[in-house]
Amino acid sequence: MKKVLIINGPNLNMLGQREPEIYGNKTLEDIKQDCIKKGGELGFAITFKQTNKEYEIVEWIQETDSDAIIINAAAYTHTSVAIYDALKNYNKLVVEVHLSNTYAREEFRHKSYISPIASGIICGFGAKGYLMALDGLV
Ligand code: DQA
Repeated sequence: MKKVLIINGPNLNMLGQREPEIYGNKTLEDIKQDCIKKGGELGFAITFKQTNKEYEIVEWIQETDSDAIIINAAAYTHTSVAIYDALKNYNKLVVEVHLSNTYAREEFRHKSYISPIASGIICGFGAKGYLMALDGLV
């Protein structure tokens, strides 16, 4: 069974109550359950994590034995050379996910440190983007 690590960055623990007009009504727990269900259908063992701490994301990337990473680094997408460096050394499949279409928002969200090392990018499809990323890994 292939292992997929799904990493969520800062403030995504607030989904459901955080700017629902942008991020939708699902909580992160809802998204986690959807991913575990979809992963089961596709034959993936899912590990689903969230943190507000940049260094924890770096450590998870360094330590994982997963076959692929799906990452919504949230605000760190636009700032973190540390996460970029960690992902560059991961050398396996990486899919970047965003709930919102970051290119239709403020200019500071147009820059992504994840995109250059990602095999694929999904943004603007809300919570469904995570499930699309799992399909994409197949
Ligand atoms: C986000 C987009 C980021 O710009 C923002 O900082 C987030 C969420 C998204 O999923 O749309 O926290 O990654």
